[in-house]
Amino acid sequence: MAAIKVQADPAARFPAMRPAAGLPANAPARRGFAVFQRNCISCHTLNGQGDAKVGPDLNIPHSPTEYFREDMLRTLVRNPQNLRRWPQAKMPAFDAKVLSDADLDDLVAYLKHMAGRKVSP
Ligand code: HEC
Repeated sequence: MAAIKVQADPAARFPAMRPAAGLPANAPARRGFAVFQRNCISCHTLNGQGDAKVGPDLNIPHSPTEYFREDMLRTLVRNPQNLRRWPQAKMPAFDAKVLSDADLDDLVAYLKHMAGRKVSP
């Protein structure tokens, strides 16, 4: 191995992804940010920030919490093919083994919170 590249934590590199500083440490949106970093940041940007370019930005111009009914957004995350189906779709399913119901609640809380914190790149 030639080199190990250590990337600083995404919250530091991508400040526009962070929830509001005033939120308590145990706020659902704050936990949801951690869930987002574990599961979604590898493919999606948020507020135009992030390294991934695989899927659409999850806040601008519109948050999926604004244009999907919440139960449909949850359906999409659990298995995108259960919401809209086409052969070349690339987003994987996140079943309860990967993403608990509590994680999904926190993730939705984070996305809703960020809908109120839009930043244009
Ligand atoms: C392996 C890459 C990948 C990962 C990981 C991923 N997505 Fe996606 N996502 C995509 C792609 C690509 C699309 C576009 C539709 C498609 O091709 O499946 C998409 C579409 C979406 C959409 C629909 C947007 C729209 O307007 O149609 C939402 C919402 C979404 N992703 C949320 C998430 C969330 C939340 C997570 C984390 C739990 C996540 N994605 C993880 C690749 C990914």
